[in-house]
Amino acid sequence: MKHIVLAGATGYLGRYIAKELKSRGYYVTLLVRNKQSFKNKMVIADNVIEGDMRDKQFYKGLFEDVDAVISTVGITRQKDGATYINIDYGVNKLLLDEALDAKVRKFIYTSVLHGENLKHLKICQAKELFVEALQSSNIESTIIRPSGFFSDMEEFIHMAKSGRVYLFGDGKKEANPIDGEDLAKVCVDAINLSDSEINIGGPEIMTHNKMAKIAFNVLDKPIKIMYIPSWIRKSLLWTVQKITDQKTYGSIEFFLTVMSMDMVGSSMVKKH
Ligand SMILES: NC(=O)c1ccc[n+]([C@@H]2O[C@H](COP(=O)([O-])OP(=O)(O)OC[C@H]3O[C@@H](n4cnc5c(N)ncnc54)[C@H](OP(=O)(O)O)[C@@H]3O)[C@@H](O)[C@H]2O)c1
Repeated sequence: MKHIVLAGATGYLGRYIAKELKSRGYYVTLLVRNKQSFKNKMVIADNVIEGDMRDKQFYKGLFEDVDAVISTVGITRQKDGATYINIDYGVNKLLLDEALDAKVRKFIYTSVLHGENLKHLKICQAKELFVEALQSSNIESTIIRPSGFFSDMEEFIHMAKSGRVYLFGDGKKEANPIDGEDLAKVCVDAINLSDSEINIGGPEIMTHNKMAKIAFNVLDKPIKIMYIPSWIRKSLLWTVQKITDQKTYGSIEFFLTVMSMDMVGSSMVKKH
C-alpha cells in the first residue's frame, strides 16, 4: 500500500484530499499543528502527527518509505500573525527539504491560477517562491493551480444577504470556481500523472454578474448590484497597502486583484 503524507488536512481542501486518499486505499499520514481542528470535520487517516510545522526538527524521520507528499498549507483566514513567507514558502520548504532527504518520489503543491503572473502580491510572491524551489529541486512535482473555490462564493451570499452586491468594473469578468471534492480528486490523480502544472477550474464559467444574480435568487431577494469603477478599486488597493501591514492587506490585495481578472482554469470536472 502506497504511503502518502498530507499537510493541510485541517483546511477546506485538505480535508477532501484526506477523504479521497483513503477512499482510494492509500496509507495516509496527516501532519497538523492542532488535532483539535479536526473536530466535527469527519477526517479519516491512518496516522495523525501533531507538532510545530515551522520547526525543521518536527519532520525528521517522518518521510521514510513515503511515496508522495501533498501540501495545501497556506494562510487564508488564519490570523496568528505569521507572514506568507513564513508559511506559504517556509513551511512548504521544510516539507520539501525533508522529502528530498528521504528520497520521496513526488511532491504535489497547491498554488493559485495565474500565480506566476501575480508575484507582485504578497501571497503569490511567497507561493511562487516555493514553486520555484520545488521545480528546481530533484523531485518529481505537480503544481495544482485552481481558479477559485466554491466556498469563496459565500462572499456573494453575504453581500446579497445585506441587500446589495458590489462588483468591480462592469461585472463581466469570468471565473469557474471548483468544488473542494472535485479539486481533491485532481490533487490525488496527480500522484500518478506526469504533468508539472495543472490549471484547473470547475465545470461552469460564470460572469461575476451571474454569480451575484444566483446569490440573490437563492435568497429570493431582488437583484441589486452596485458597480465600482476601476479607479476606486485601484485607490482602495493603494490605500490598504499604505496604511496596513501585509498580514492585513495580503488577502485584501489578492481579492481586489483577482476580482478584476478572468480566473478561468480548464475543467476536467463534469457538471453535476
Ligand atoms: N480559496 C481559494 O479560492 C484558493 C484558490 C486557489 C488556491 N488556494 C490555495 O489553496 C490552499 C488550500 O486552501 P484552503 O482553502 O484549503 O485553505 P485553508 O482552509 O485555510 O487550509 C490551509 C491549511 O494550512 C494550514 N496552516 C495555515 N497556517 C499554518 C501554520 N502557521 N502552521 C501550520 N499549518 C498552517 C492550516 O492549518 P490550521 O487549520 O491549523 O489553520 C490548514 O490546514 C491554500 O494555500 C490557498 O492559498 C485557495
